[in-house]
Amino acid sequence: MGKILVLDHPLIQHKLTFIRNVETGTKEFRELVDEVSTLMAFEITRDLPLREVQINTPVREAKSFVISGKKLGVVPILRAGLGMVEGILKLIPAAKVGHVGFYRDPETLKPVEYYVKLPSDVEEREFIILDPMLATGGSASAAIKALKSRGAKQIKLMCLVAAPEGVSKITVEHPEVDIYLAALDESLNEKGYIVPGLGDAGDRLFGTK
Ligand code: PRP
Ligand code: URA
Repeated sequence: MGKILVLDHPLIQHKLTFIRNVETGTKEFRELVDEVSTLMAFEITRDLPLREVQINTPVREAKSFVISGKKLGVVPILRAGLGMVEGILKLIPAAKVGHVGFYRDPETLKPVEYYVKLPSDVEEREFIILDPMLATGGSASAAIKALKSRGAKQIKLMCLVAAPEGVSKITVEHPEVDIYLAALDESLNEKGYIVPGLGDAGDRLFGTK
């Protein structure tokens, strides 16, 4: 069974308050999503394997540790996931970036796939799927399926805000996937928006309506 981790670090919670606030404009919203993504990346990379190396400090020889060349892939769900990419790459700049495009049909709330482009060595990489919102879970579940069907073996999901319904869907359909969140909210409303949530993440990031 995958882990469900709500990252309750004070800096993440503080910045999330401003992300949620309806008064926050596009520029600040984008900067805050970037900053929270970096802070979350700190936790999501906690289990990266290390290997010991021998170095010389100015004082003497020492054994120390470096990350042991794990191949990582970051996959934003278009569009809103794009807002999280740079924040993650600040900590893991060597990661390759794939893209999957889904939009929610406004009537059915079902995800519709329109784009998939992944690194060629899918089977060797651990992937982190990015989307600020895990609402019904339809888009994230479809993204995970899109990666699995192309050979991905290790997948983590990172979202800012989730509804219980979305978390349940992922844990039932993809029980091996770890889910990293900044907040687990109360519910979904009749239009499929997370309550209290932060509104439409893509529109707030890109200034569209
Ligand atoms: C939003 C959001 C997620 C999805 C979550 O995308 O960014 O991808 O909805 O909802 P779900 O869990 O019910 O699938 P949207 O369809 O609005 O597309 P956009 O990112 O292009 O705005
Ligand atoms: N997608 C969003 O952007 N916001 C929500 O609250 C739900 C889905």
